[in-house]
Amino acid sequence: MAYTAKIGPSILSSDLARLGSECVRMLECGADYLHLDVMDGHFVPNLTFGHPMVECLRKSLGPDPFFDMHMMVSRPEQWVKPMSAAGANQYTFHLESTTNPGNLIKEIREAGMKVGLAIKPGTTVEELAPWANQIDMALVMTVEPGFGGQKFMVDMMPKVSWLRGQFPSLDIEVDGGVGPDTIHRCAEAGANMIVSGSAVIGSADPRSVIALLRTAVSEAIQKRSLDR
Ligand code: DX5
Ligand code: ZN
Repeated sequence: MAYTAKIGPSILSSDLARLGSECVRMLECGADYLHLDVMDGHFVPNLTFGHPMVECLRKSLGPDPFFDMHMMVSRPEQWVKPMSAAGANQYTFHLESTTNPGNLIKEIREAGMKVGLAIKPGTTVEELAPWANQIDMALVMTVEPGFGGQKFMVDMMPKVSWLRGQFPSLDIEVDGGVGPDTIHRCAEAGANMIVSGSAVIGSADPRSVIALLRTAVSEAIQKRSLDR
């Protein structure tokens, strides 16, 4: 099986006045990548940061950390080049935000980034499926995008299971309300890239939480490979 367990803290719920050191802390605690939430106040009713912040983080953290940009914006086409220039590694856009996903996928690749494709809770997995062979990662949102600290939507798990069944080697990410209480559902369904905001950042022991999340996913991957 090509995919492995990867844990990506969402730094949205960290002390934003100390963003750089919070990212370093997460990486030192075992984060495999950083999930960076970009919101434009239009696609979602909240506002965060853009490519200038990403550029500063890249300068401060060096070339190694993998930046997964979760683009909750109405015009994702507009930020492909600026995000690439700022040092983003993966550009995850929402299927609901564009009329031409095929072209956007091409532009992201030409800009030298990996491609992630996200769906909101109201979007079916069948709508994502036609693009699955052209992307690096599918993101199944497990809350309505916009805010950290929301309740995990377990009814999104059939989407993850369906995708895992159809696309055995695709990276599948879950985002929203994921932590020690909900990771097992995600892992069993077949998710392998795990975004966790408040559960990791708000913990007194982020290293243990990250390790617990990774173990749950690794064990599910191993079990799935034995079952095949
Ligand atoms: C929500 C964001 C998430 C959020 C996750 O729209 O996409 O990445 O920060 O935070 P938790 O894990 O607290 O739900
Ligand atoms: Zn996110």
